[in-house]
Amino acid sequence: MADGKARTVADIMSRPVVTVASTETIAETAARMGAKRVGSVVVIDGGKPIGIFTERDLVRVAASGADTYNDRITDWMTPNPDSVAPDEEVAQAFAALSEHGYRHIPVVEGDELAGIVSMRDLMRIAAIQPAETLAHEVPRGLEGVVVAETEIGDVRGLEGFYHYRQYDAVDLAEQRTLEDVWYLLYEGELPTLAEREQFTAEVQPLREIPTDVAAVLPDIARLGGGAGPLDLLRTTVSLLAASLDFEPSLDVTAGELRLQALRVCAVTPTLVMTLYRSQQGREPIAPNPELPYAANYLYMLTGEVPDPEHARAVEQYMISTIDHGFNASTFTARVITSTGADLGSAVVGAIGALSGPLHGGAPSRALDMLDQIGTTDKAEPWLRDAVERGDRLMGFGHRVYKTDDPRSVMLRSVAERLGGENVEFAKEVERQAVEVLAELKPGRKLYTNVEFYAGIVMDAAGLPRALFTPTFASSRTIGWTAHILEQAADNRLIRPSAQYVGPPPPHPLPELV
Ligand SMILES: CC(C)(COP(=O)(O)OP(=O)(O)OC[C@H]1O[C@@H](n2cnc3c(N)ncnc32)[C@H](O)[C@@H]1OP(=O)(O)O)[C@@H](O)C(=O)NCCC(=O)NCCS
Repeated sequence: MADGKARTVADIMSRPVVTVASTETIAETAARMGAKRVGSVVVIDGGKPIGIFTERDLVRVAASGADTYNDRITDWMTPNPDSVAPDEEVAQAFAALSEHGYRHIPVVEGDELAGIVSMRDLMRIAAIQPAETLAHEVPRGLEGVVVAETEIGDVRGLEGFYHYRQYDAVDLAEQRTLEDVWYLLYEGELPTLAEREQFTAEVQPLREIPTDVAAVLPDIARLGGGAGPLDLLRTTVSLLAASLDFEPSLDVTAGELRLQALRVCAVTPTLVMTLYRSQQGREPIAPNPELPYAANYLYMLTGEVPDPEHARAVEQYMISTIDHGFNASTFTARVITSTGADLGSAVVGAIGALSGPLHGGAPSRALDMLDQIGTTDKAEPWLRDAVERGDRLMGFGHRVYKTDDPRSVMLRSVAERLGGENVEFAKEVERQAVEVLAELKPGRKLYTNVEFYAGIVMDAAGLPRALFTPTFASSRTIGWTAHILEQAADNRLIRPSAQYVGPPPPHPLPELV
């Protein structure tokens, strides 16, 4: 807590509490819950709380066929419910109550009802317990829920900081090579000069596409029709895994799995560029063994050794996007690995998750937005109009960062270094968008995310828009596979539960008419 004081139940409880008298019926109670839009009511007798009645009870009532117009609430409520005191610390209250699976808990001071808290509110604030021990609702979108342990990295949203194995990721992007960071993620420590050389020598030959896969790439590119290179990459990684005989991760040794992971990471840039060039009707360009990862990536686009400034900018972007906490695609990769499936399946699933505009599919959209705005004088009305219409400004907002996204800050300075007319324009649009969002979405703390300047940097470095998300996918493959290796090394099937909210079962089967 910023002020050093732990939060108490009183800080987060809801008031006034919706109550019903002990003499009321189920039907009256249900009507009140509907009108007040609450998931529970506290039953009162002589001003004292004597029971609680929740949506769950309502489902039980409906399934039983009870006479809701005559049955009294006291017949169906949970009598003498556990309660918490308003001055109890949130974490303590959470720990004490989580094992019962309650969803709503009355807050009682002395004998008096002071408020009500939901487990959802408590969980959001309390240090979240391992999910496997919980048997109740978690926030929508799993926000803030801890579902695994990792040593790979962590995102501190309120501080605007993230790291890879305890090193500030921005420092790594500013001072190290992509191969160093790749080594760090896989081996747990940064390489020495000798280790860097050895690692580079190990991965360089793995950039080549196996011949049987290379043979079908032009067909995949052609069959893809209007599909983007990311869709084609998804298909091709699947093919690659089959062609290299990737066995279920449950059946391979840690050493074999590491080799598969290295192979997929090393070949992904080659696949991306080959597919892209094939779609353009151009011959693929073989990887250049003299060049490091990022420079080689640009080389395979044009066949020319890239400007070192451009190669470094792309490398910095790539380092900054290698990993980022338990984002949707990383989670996907770990879920798939937790079933014991092969590494190819996990990467294919992760690519699918990344392709969505709410995750990785936004950088070209951010640039498209700048194009639509056109000039600085049109920015404010355009942005205002979009937000008022309910549209999302692409490249703004983040699930975890509620302050500047450190990747966006770093990429803004990389963009400034590269220069170009787009940069000043983007900075002005950013300034105006932050203002518009603060006014129209107060309290949501919306700032630029990684995608906003990513597009500017990649564009300035000569990458076409169609390659923005595939470039993200290339670097993120390193993060995904690091997580796959970690998951496989200490695996437990990830298998959560869902809250059933449909009509009450069991329902008799209808007559077939
Ligand atoms: C990244 C993102 C998906 C995070 O979503 P989230 O954590 O689920 O945030 P929510 O959907 O709960 O949004 C909270 C509020 O902020 C608003 N908001 C979030 N991002 C916004 C954006 N980019 N533009 C306008 N409003 C935005 C939402 O409309 C919502 O407002 P409401 O409370 O009035 O309903 C979201 O910010 C977004 O869609 N951004 C644009 C796409 C993008 O840049 N993606 C790349 C991510 S790296």
